[in-house]
Amino acid sequence: MKKQIELTYIDRQGLLTAETLEKTCQDAAVILERAVKGDPQYTDVTGWVSVDETAGPERLQFLLEQAKRVREEADALVVIAIGGSNQASRAVIKALPDAEGPAIIWAGNTLSAYELQRTLKELDGYKSVYINCIAKNFETLEPGMTFRVLRQYLEKRYGEEDTPRRVFATGTPGSNLHQLCIDHGYNFLTFPEKVGGRYCVGSDVHLFPMAVAGVDIEALVQGMRDMRDRIFTEPAPQNIALRYAAIRSSLLKKGYAAEMLSFFEPRLDYFSKWWVQGFAESEGKCGTGLYPIVASNSEDLHSTGQFVQDGSPILFETFLELKEQDASLTICADEKKDYFDYLDGLDLWEINQIARRATFTAHSQRGIPCLNLEVPALDEYWLGQMFYYFMFSCYLSCELTGVNAFDQPGVEGYKKEMFHHLGKPGY
Ligand code: PA5
Repeated sequence: MKKQIELTYIDRQGLLTAETLEKTCQDAAVILERAVKGDPQYTDVTGWVSVDETAGPERLQFLLEQAKRVREEADALVVIAIGGSNQASRAVIKALPDAEGPAIIWAGNTLSAYELQRTLKELDGYKSVYINCIAKNFETLEPGMTFRVLRQYLEKRYGEEDTPRRVFATGTPGSNLHQLCIDHGYNFLTFPEKVGGRYCVGSDVHLFPMAVAGVDIEALVQGMRDMRDRIFTEPAPQNIALRYAAIRSSLLKKGYAAEMLSFFEPRLDYFSKWWVQGFAESEGKCGTGLYPIVASNSEDLHSTGQFVQDGSPILFETFLELKEQDASLTICADEKKDYFDYLDGLDLWEINQIARRATFTAHSQRGIPCLNLEVPALDEYWLGQMFYYFMFSCYLSCELTGVNAFDQPGVEGYKKEMFHHLGKPGY
């Protein structure tokens, strides 16, 4: 049978029967159709939907060539970005096995002096440092400030002459960042105009740092395309993205306040941060939305697991199940009496699967609505499928809830106050 991502839903309270879910999806078919055809009201923010508009074969070749040079010349690349501009590449690089090539270091996502000082000290340990500042409009404080500090660091270390080839900036053509690159001879990559931060996985923004890290970006983009084709052709009642969106919005209407993404591989920690960011920033507005939280298990079963099993029944859970066994460690018998003999000869990979299945059973028996997203393997291709799947589902969820998936008016609140106190002109 063809390998594919599968979504199943278990709801022991009968809150959402298979028939109701099918009917909800059928009623929402028009929303799916509109999103697939291209909704005129979102033309200027849905440049990511086709995948090929921002990650066609020619663009990938160009990015691979740029990355090749950096891989040959650099020992470390600092990615300077925040929010949607840094989450996806970090998620992929942290999830996949270390490839040979420059170390990737993240900065520009904090205002902590301690952290930036630590990064600068860390960089002293590398011979050849390159940086990539990523900012859509180049107004965000964290990447803007960090870019300045790191440019000065490079100039001090390598001199004015040798710095420009070490600097990459990814921004909107015509922006202040673009002008800075023109003025000083920095390499410029494109932040697609018609794509917002959290939807820009398939663009220079994330594909360039991934390629420098040695990630197979062609496989990742192919995964995105294949998921696009699937979502575009699967009929509404079976459509994997619409079903997920319909379950989410139905549970929201029934009073659920949070969705927990649960997984049993800690290398998905940063993927889960990407997931949280995408859903929180897209859906949490106009006084509604599901609060996205995560459980990195089995560790979190020993903390928030208590709340989930026994606390306020405010959340439902989406489990990520990775099918392919990609590691093996046998627990060997031991003469010393430690009372763990029941594990003798078992493979740790299997023990982890047993813990995952046990958690799913215990939580669903408690009455928690539980979804299971079965993913064939954790590699570039399936990560690409997951990115596209969650982005499109998020868009559909927002449509079902009646909010704009692509703006983020709420993040302006603290900024106005902060910029006023920092003396930024106009505040
Ligand atoms: O998803 C989004 O739109 C945001 O999270 C942005 O990516 C984030 O605020 C950074 O914006 P910028 O790239 O303009 O610095």
